[in-house]
Amino acid sequence: MLIRPMAGALLRALVVLIVALLTMRSSPGSAQDSVACDASDASDYFRNSVFVVGLRRARRALHGAILAPIAAIQAMRATHPLLRPTRGVLLHGPPGTGKTLLGRWVAMRLDGAFVAVTPDSVQCRWYGETPRRVRELFRTARARAPCVLFFDEIDGMLRSRSSGEMGVEREFKTTMLSEMSRAEDDDGPIVVLMGATNRPDDVDAAVLRRLPLHVHVPLPGARARTRMLARHLRVPESSAGLDWFACVSEGLTCSDIHEVARAAVRLAHERRACGGVSVDERDVRDATRTVVAVAESRL
Ligand SMILES: Nc1ncnc2c1ncn2[C@@H]1O[C@H](COP(=O)(O)OP(=O)(O)OP(=O)(O)O)[C@@H](O)[C@H]1O
Ligand SMILES: [Mg+2]
Repeated sequence: MLIRPMAGALLRALVVLIVALLTMRSSPGSAQDSVACDASDASDYFRNSVFVVGLRRARRALHGAILAPIAAIQAMRATHPLLRPTRGVLLHGPPGTGKTLLGRWVAMRLDGAFVAVTPDSVQCRWYGETPRRVRELFRTARARAPCVLFFDEIDGMLRSRSSGEMGVEREFKTTMLSEMSRAEDDDGPIVVLMGATNRPDDVDAAVLRRLPLHVHVPLPGARARTRMLARHLRVPESSAGLDWFACVSEGLTCSDIHEVARAAVRLAHERRACGGVSVDERDVRDATRTVVAVAESRL
C-alpha cells in the first residue's frame, strides 16, 4: 500500500529534476548576454597583431570595394549614387589560408570592431528566441559600427534551403536574410558582412545575393610560403633551407606553415636541450617532411 504514493512522489521529483536541468542548459538569457559572440575592438588589439603575408589580389579586391569607398563615402556618393561601398563579402578558399585573418584585417583597416558569429551563439531551440538573438546581434554590430560581422563556415549556418526545413532553422534564415538586407542600407551605420566558406556552392542563393563580392583566398605561393616561415621563425628570408622549403612546400596551407615552424623549433629545442633555441636547416627539413606527409595524407 505504501509503495504507490512513494512511487508517485519519486516520479514527480524526477520530472521536476529533468525540467530544472533542461532549463539550466538552454533557457533564454537576458537581452544583454544572449548573443555570446567573439567581439573585439580593432583599435587596441588588432592594430599590431594582424599581419597578412601575400594575398595581394584578395586584399586589393577588399580595399577597392570596401575600404576605399568607406573612406571617401561622402565624396563618392556625391559623384554617383552607385559609387557606394560593398557591404557584403564572401571569402572562399581552402581551409587555413587566411579567410578569418582577412576579416580581422578589414576590421583593423576600418579601425572598427570584429564580431565573429557561430551558430551556437544565435541558434536556440526555444520558440522565438533565435530571431530575437539574430536581431540583437545586428543591433550590437550597428552600435559598434564600423564593424565587421563575420560568419565563419557560413555554408553550415546558411546552407541551401530545402523544402523540408522547419522550426529554428527556418526562423534563423528568415530573420538573417531580412537583417542582412537591412545592413546593406547605405545611410545606416557601417556594418560589413563577411562570410567565409570552403564550399561556396553549398551556401543559400539568397544569402549569396546579399554577399555580392566574392573573393577567392588561395593557397600561398612560393614567395609567401617562404616569407611566412621566415617570419614565424624570426629569421631572414635568405636563411639556409628556405629556398629548399619553397620548392617542396607547394600545397601547404598557412596553418601548415605555422606547424612547420612549431615543429622546427621543437626539434631544435630537443637537440640542444641545454642551450638556447636556434633553428637550423636540418630542423626545417625534418619538420617540413613531417608536415608535408600529414598534408598529403589529407588528400
Ligand atoms: N596570409 C597570411 N599571412 C599570415 N598568416 C596567415 C595568413 N593566412 C593564414 N595565416 C595564419 O594561419 C592560421 C589560419 O588562418 P585562418 O584562420 O585565417 O584560416 P581560414 O582560411 O579562416 O581557415 P578555415 O577555413 O579553417 O576557417 C592563422 O594562424 C593565421 O594567422
Ligand atoms: Mg576561418
